[in-house]
Amino acid sequence: MNEKQLVGEKVAEYVKDGMIIGLGTGSTVRFTIEKIGELVKQGMFVQGVATSIRTEQLAKKHGIPLLSLNEVDKLDIAIDGADEADPAFHLIKGGGGALLREKMIASSAESFIVVADSSKMVERLGRFPLPVEVETFGYRMTEKKIRSLGGASALRVKEGKPYITDNGHYIFDCDFGSIASPKKLEQELSLIPGVVENGLFIAMADMIITVNEKKDIQIKKRTKQE
Ligand code: A5P
Repeated sequence: MNEKQLVGEKVAEYVKDGMIIGLGTGSTVRFTIEKIGELVKQGMFVQGVATSIRTEQLAKKHGIPLLSLNEVDKLDIAIDGADEADPAFHLIKGGGGALLREKMIASSAESFIVVADSSKMVERLGRFPLPVEVETFGYRMTEKKIRSLGGASALRVKEGKPYITDNGHYIFDCDFGSIASPKKLEQELSLIPGVVENGLFIAMADMIITVNEKKDIQIKKRTKQE
């Protein structure tokens, strides 16, 4: 079994009857959604809130009842993948373009669990390009302001055209090198008019499920001060 499947299925153990679950996006959490679908078929009642149109379609295919974020007061858990995770539980997310809904949903959950194969675990964030979602209006001006923070940026392109998020925005994939202070960068990016969201998730993850070199599952829990 590959690592994505191992961690993606392991996290389903945290899904309990009656829960409202934030359903992440990506190739790791796909295994989780399939597993939750099996639990639903066996009679468990859960409801999901999807972080992307892709996930919505996948959840429907697997028979998971869905709610919109507007229909819930809170989520019991949110489960999602990551592009990078550091020892302080800071993440880079958004490689799949779903960062805005992912952050909104993760921040609405009592517990946010991240599933990450070993390649995602890093000492310092920054090797993976940081996705920044921007308004299409004036996006070149917004890019200039992002670059003034010291990063290089590339407009995400799909099939020769700018990639459009589920929310109708563009994404700049940014290279800030090795990120010394993820919290500071997250705040600086958030202050730029035109930036809708950025892929730095600062100490939001409560638990990271990963694997070590022996392919044993590792469960890392964040303590309050992290
Ligand atoms: C989607 O926008 C991302 O945040 C994903 O959660 C992240 O890219 C991890 O994806 P994989 O599970 O496909 O590696």
